Amino acid sequence: MRASVLNVAAAAVAFSGLCSAANSTEWKTRSIYQLMVDRFARTDGSTTADCDVSRFCDGTWTGLINNLDYIQDMGFTAVQISPIVKNMEENTAVGDPYHGYWSVDNYALNEHFGTEDDFKNLVAELHKRDMLLMVDVVVNNFAQKFDNVIPPKVDFKEFTPFNDAKYFHPYCNVTMWENATDIQECWLYPYGVALADLDTERPDVVAEMGKWIKSLVSNYSIDGLRIDAAKHVNDEFLPQFVEAAGVFAWGEVLTGETEDMCRYQLKGLLPGMPNYLNYYPLDLAFNGGSFADVDRMRKEARTGCNDTSVLGNFIENHDMPRFASKNDDIALAKNAMTFVILNEGIPTVYQGQEQHFKGNSTPFNREPLWQSGYNKSAPLYQLTSTLNKVRNNAIKRSADYIDALPDTLWADQNHLCIRKGPYGSQIVFCINNKSSKGDTYSISVGGFEPSDQVVEVLGCTTIQADGAGNVTSYMFGGEPKVYVSSASLKDTGLCPVTTAAGPGKANGAMGMNVAGGLLLAAVIGWATVFLA
Ligand SMILES: *[C@@H]1O[C@H](CO)[C@@H](O)[C@H](O)[C@H]1NC(C)=O
Ligand SMILES: *[C@@H]1O[C@H](CO)[C@@H](O)[C@H](O)[C@H]1NC(C)=O
Ligand SMILES: *[C@@H]1O[C@H](CO)[C@@H](O)[C@H](O)[C@H]1NC(C)=O
Ligand SMILES: *[C@@H]1O[C@H](CO)[C@@H](O)[C@H](O)[C@H]1NC(C)=O
Ligand SMILES: *[C@@H]1O[C@H](CO)[C@@H](O)[C@H](O)[C@H]1NC(C)=O
Ligand SMILES: *[C@@H]1O[C@H](CO)[C@@H](O)[C@H](O)[C@H]1NC(C)=O
Ligand SMILES: *[C@@H]1O[C@H](CO)[C@@H](O)[C@H](O)[C@H]1NC(C)=O
Ligand SMILES: *[C@@H]1O[C@H](CO)[C@@H](O)[C@H](O)[C@H]1NC(C)=O
Repeated sequence: MRASVLNVAAAAVAFSGLCSAANSTEWKTRSIYQLMVDRFARTDGSTTADCDVSRFCDGTWTGLINNLDYIQDMGFTAVQISPIVKNMEENTAVGDPYHGYWSVDNYALNEHFGTEDDFKNLVAELHKRDMLLMVDVVVNNFAQKFDNVIPPKVDFKEFTPFNDAKYFHPYCNVTMWENATDIQECWLYPYGVALADLDTERPDVVAEMGKWIKSLVSNYSIDGLRIDAAKHVNDEFLPQFVEAAGVFAWGEVLTGETEDMCRYQLKGLLPGMPNYLNYYPLDLAFNGGSFADVDRMRKEARTGCNDTSVLGNFIENHDMPRFASKNDDIALAKNAMTFVILNEGIPTVYQGQEQHFKGNSTPFNREPLWQSGYNKSAPLYQLTSTLNKVRNNAIKRSADYIDALPDTLWADQNHLCIRKGPYGSQIVFCINNKSSKGDTYSISVGGFEPSDQVVEVLGCTTIQADGAGNVTSYMFGGEPKVYVSSASLKDTGLCPVTTAAGPGKANGAMGMNVAGGLLLAAVIGWATVFLA
C-alpha cells in the first residue's frame, strides 16, 4: 500500500516534469550545446576523418545518445539539434542535405539520422538527464534539386503537405536584402537547390503549419525550437506559429542593427533570438576592435529589446566562420568562451568550439566532431565545463540570478569586466583581448563587499577583497578571470585546492597551497552555516 502511494507520487513528479512545456522562464536558466547531427557522432562510433564536408558524414541520433556524457560533463543543460524531418535525397551543386534544412515532408523523420524509435530514445535519454531538447525547424521553404535553369521548375507534388504551387510564392530571386517584401516573398539562393518559398501569408498555410508544429512538439516531447530564417517569413506568421508550438522558440534574425532585431521581441513576434547584435562587436573586439563597443551594444540591446535574458549568446554557429579561423590564439578563444557563458542571455556553444576547431565559412565550419576524439582534456572543453558549473551554481543558489541586471565594472579597448547576480551568488568576470602574449599587470575590480573571501575559479586562486570590496586581478598571458565568493563554491567540486593569487601566474598552474589558511577559514565558515 505504502509502496504504491510512493510510486504514484514518483510517477506524478515524472509526469509533471515531462508535460510542463518549457517556456522562456525555463529556457533562460539553461545552457545550450548546438550540434549538427550528421557531424556529431556515428552510430558505430567510428572516427575515420576522411569525409567530405559537403556530403553526408553519417552522424546519427543514436551516435548522439552514445555521447551525451561528453555534452553533459561540460555542464550543458540543453542541446539544439539539426532539423529532424525528411529532406530531399539528391546530391546537388551545393552538396548533400546532410544539414537537414532541405525539407520535403514535414510528416516523416529524416532516415539518415535514424528511426522514429531512435529519435524517441534520444528525447527520453535527454529528459532522464534533465536536459532539454531544442529542434531546429524550417518554415520559410521546401526544397528541390534543380538544374540551374531559371526560373526553377519545381514538382510541387513531391512536397508533403504543401503539394501544390498555390501554397508557394511565385519565383523571384532575393536581391534587395534591405527590402522586407523582397527577402520575405522571394526565393533564397537559387543555385543547385530551389528553396520554394512558402506563402506564409495564406491562412491555410498558417493553419497547417500550426497543426504540424503542435503535433511534432507533442508527438516527440520537444522542449523548444529554433526557427530557421525567421527574418525571411512575414511578421504575422511568427507569433501564430510560436503559439501553436506551445514551447519556447527563438528565431534566426541575422542582423547587427538593434532596432531590426529587437522589434521581434518588442512586437511580440518571437520570444527570443540568437544574439547577432553582440556577435559582431564581440568578434571584432578580438580582431582589432574594442570592448567598449561590445559594452555599448550590450546596453543598446537592453534598452532596445525587452528581455535580453532570452537572447542567445554565441561566438560560433554553423553559419559563421569559426572564431579560430581568424586568430587561433587559445587565450583569445578562452575570453570569447567566458563572455558567451557568463554574459546575460542563454549561452550557446556550437560543437567543435570547445575543441578549438578552425574551419572557415560553410561548409568548412562543420567539421565532424569525432576528429577531436571527443577529448575531454582539451583546454576549452575544461574551461567550458568550469564556466557552466559556475553559472549553473549561481542559478541554483539564487532565483534572482537570471533576471538580475548586470553591472559593467570596467570597459575599455582591451578589457570588459562585468558583475552579475545578487550578493553572495554574484559572478564577476573580466575578459581581455591581449592574447597569450599578454603582459603581466594588475587591475582592481569591484563587485564584492569589504574583506570578502573570493576565489578566481579558472586558476583556483584566493584573494581577499579590499576595504572598497575590490579584488586585484593579476593579469598574465591574456587569460580571462572569473571571481565568486569562496562560500558559494561549497559542494560544487570546483577549486577543491586553492593558492593565493599573485602576479605572473597563469591560470590552471597549480602551485603550493599557500592559501591553506584561507581555505580552512572558508571551510569552517561553511560548517558553521551547515550546523546552524
Ligand atoms: C513559465 O512556466 C512557469 C511554470 O509553469 C510559470 O511559473 C512562468 O510564469 C511561465 N513563464 C512565462 C514567461 O510564461
Ligand atoms: C540571385 O541574387 C543574388 C544576389 O542577391 C545573385 O548573387 C545571384 O546570382 C542571383 N541568382 C539568380 C539565379 O538570379
Ligand atoms: C521590394 O521588393 C518587392 C518584391 O521584390 C518589389 O515588388 C518592390 O518594388 C520592392 N520595393 C522597393 C522600394 O524596391
Ligand atoms: C503525430 O502523431 C499522430 C498520431 O500518430 C500523427 O497522426 C501525426 O501525423 C504526427 N505528427 C507529426 C508531425 O509527425
Ligand atoms: C515585451 O513585448 C511584448 C510585446 O509587445 C509585450 O507583450 C511584453 O509585455 C513585453 N515584455 C516586457 C518585459 O516588457
Ligand atoms: C585588442 O584591442 C586593441 C584596442 O582596440 C586592438 O588594437 C588590438 O588589435 C586588439 N587585439 C586583438 C587580438 O584583436
Ligand atoms: C587531449 O588534449 C590534451 C590537452 O590538449 C592533450 O595533451 C592530449 O594529448 C589529447 N589527447 C589526445 C588523445 O589527443
Ligand atoms: C575598484 O574597481 C573599480 C572597477 O570595478 C575601479 O573603477 C576602481 O578604481 C577600483 N577602486 C580602487 C580603489 O582600486
